[in-house]
Amino acid sequence: MHPALNIMVKAARRASQIINRASHDIEHLKITIKQQSDFVTEVDKAAEAAIIEVLRDAYPGYGILAEESGQSLGEGTGSEYQWIIDPLDGTTNFIHGFPQYSVSIALAYKGQLNQALVYDTLRNEMFTASKGGGAFLNERRIRVSKCLKLEDALVGTGFPFRIFEHVDAYMGIFKDFTQRTSGIRRAGSAALDLAYVACGRLDGFWEFGLMPWDMAAGCLLISESGGLVSDLSGGDNHMTTGNIVAGTPKIFSQVLQVVDAHRTPALAA
Ligand code: IPD
Ligand code: CA
Ligand code: CA
Repeated sequence: MHPALNIMVKAARRASQIINRASHDIEHLKITIKQQSDFVTEVDKAAEAAIIEVLRDAYPGYGILAEESGQSLGEGTGSEYQWIIDPLDGTTNFIHGFPQYSVSIALAYKGQLNQALVYDTLRNEMFTASKGGGAFLNERRIRVSKCLKLEDALVGTGFPFRIFEHVDAYMGIFKDFTQRTSGIRRAGSAALDLAYVACGRLDGFWEFGLMPWDMAAGCLLISESGGLVSDLSGGDNHMTTGNIVAGTPKIFSQVLQVVDAHRTPALAA
């Protein structure tokens, strides 16, 4: 395993202790509303602090982009390396005791994703990938599914819940997929959804308005397991626009086609 990935595993396990301990006592959680339908708990913050401590200890010079504490530069600014961290992806699920959430950590080098980890702390499922080295679930190699046709596909998504500007376009896409796929799932952790595409549990995925920390690790998992990820035009601006389409090579292009058919000029690639 790449040395940085080893440290990421250590950091994710440290965060999972905090998350799992708190999951036994959710009625006592202190919850703050960041904006409409966007929650943060003391668990998100504590898990993020624990992750950053482990990563900084091992690599003090690396930059950090983390959901709760924002962007910070490494010691001796201008590092070409950056950690991208979502300490708890699926906070709404966590608050409700709905068992689907994850820790997501990625490492980018010169802006390119290099190492990835998504950890389902409840099921003890650790998804990892290194650029050019393949993707793994608990150290066993994973690949995207062999699904060829949209009608056989199980497709994941995330509903718009904060910004409703594109809700009509979204609903048009949703209606099409309802009629043309074998099923749609909204599980509530985008990082895990992408990991599920990587290991073949989902055949495709789309969502609008994600943040880099929701997607970074999941994107590398998918490309290292033989899948495809893009923005809404088939390009590679999804980390900037937050609008993403993913899938097995065959399903990806069919998902992209459906999404494209409903795109409005206001909906960025
Ligand atoms: C959220 C989850 C959810 C997605 C949202 C994200 P958070 O992350 O990934 O599945 O639909 O867009 O914000 O806020 O729980 O870290
Ligand atoms: Ca998230
Ligand atoms: Ca989060």
